[in-house]
Amino acid sequence: MSENTATAIESSAGESGTLHPPPLSLYVHLPWCVRKCPYCDFNSHEGRGALPFAAYVDALLADLDHDLPLAWGRTIQTVFFGGGTPSLFPPEAIDRLLQGASSRLRFAPGCEITLETNPGTAEHDRFELYRAAGVNRLSFGIQSFDDACLRRLGRIHDSGEAEAAVKLAQDAGFDNINLDLMYALPEQTLAMAERDLERAFALQPAHVSHYQLTLEPNTVFAARPPAGIPDDDASWDMQEHCQALLAAHGYAQYEVSAYARPGRQCAHNVNYWRYGDYLGIGAGAHGKLTLGHDGSILRRWKIKHPAAYLASAGRPEAIGGDDRIEPERRPFEFMLNALRLVDGFDLGLFTLRTGLPVDAIAPQLHAAVANGWLAIDAGHARPTDTGRRFTNDLISLFL
Ligand SMILES: C[S@@+](CC[C@H](N)C(=O)[O-])C[C@H]1O[C@@H](n2cnc3c(N)ncnc32)[C@H](O)[C@@H]1O
Ligand code: SF4
Repeated sequence: MSENTATAIESSAGESGTLHPPPLSLYVHLPWCVRKCPYCDFNSHEGRGALPFAAYVDALLADLDHDLPLAWGRTIQTVFFGGGTPSLFPPEAIDRLLQGASSRLRFAPGCEITLETNPGTAEHDRFELYRAAGVNRLSFGIQSFDDACLRRLGRIHDSGEAEAAVKLAQDAGFDNINLDLMYALPEQTLAMAERDLERAFALQPAHVSHYQLTLEPNTVFAARPPAGIPDDDASWDMQEHCQALLAAHGYAQYEVSAYARPGRQCAHNVNYWRYGDYLGIGAGAHGKLTLGHDGSILRRWKIKHPAAYLASAGRPEAIGGDDRIEPERRPFEFMLNALRLVDGFDLGLFTLRTGLPVDAIAPQLHAAVANGWLAIDAGHARPTDTGRRFTNDLISLFL
């Protein structure tokens, strides 16, 4: 390690115990889908019959009321409706939830409000009404533009419907749009993965999320893996080529799977990755809150099953668990998030978010630099290319 690096680590050593509440986001989980996709391990449930949208909004507001004492007086910087398929919810329900939330907590001017959208649920009026309700960013679950791939993934839409849905949203005035794509799909070649990106570029989204398909435990795909999943070398090749293609089209990578045009990073996710705070309401939602009065960090999650959640939201029975994050667990938690960011983080942020001096992790930082995984310059830490390839090894140094 150079003397410069050592000096940078030492000179960034801040005061411990100074925990300032970081920016606060609001995550809202909407748990139903038209059909459960065979690769998906999110808390999402096939909705049968008429869904209880109004009762669920009542439950969300009761849930928020119950959590409010953890966030008195703070300002919401971003809101994210995730799922499940939030676009199954009628705009009136989203409107009532946003009105209710903004009457309980101040919303920052220009607050980013994202709604995840399945292209199979798109209708024109809906997009205009979501906008009128305050939603200003849409995240479409496209996955692929190849109809055979979409069928193998069990999706409810084809590529034509996906393109039409994005165009409808743009006609309704949405200009801040993310497209989720997955790669390393069954029977997918590198040329097919590149064609998916070309079709995405043609729609001019502000943001692209590019996820490698993973076989998650307890999914249909894990139990019966589909034929033709690209091996590790082929998947790595796809990732490298796709990264280059995204960059060539003006989408800069800023996180493991996230690419954006200038100024269009997802502020909500960036707040997670900078170890910010968030309230989490809805079935199975997770929250993380820095409690200024005693300098503690609390993780809280809600029970997962929608029916049980509906029956108990707002009461202690809806809390799935509370976990105080003691100081010794904070370095790992912080790094698990911050090291996902391509640009890394200022060492001072570590102290601000964890309340610990940088000294507390000096040996691990030195080891990461010595391994060639991290570069530290002028108080700023950035994963190197090798570090990004071995992110898990890098993060586990801080366990
Ligand atoms: C909760 S879904 C949101 C969108 C909406 N439910 C849909 O699927 O249209 C978030 C995204 O995670 C990605 N995803 C889900 N399961 C995945 C898996 N097993 N491997 C990789 N990415 C996955 C998909 O790209 C999906 O769009
Ligand atoms: S639509 Fe989205 S959340 Fe629902 S099952 Fe499919 S991937 Fe999961």
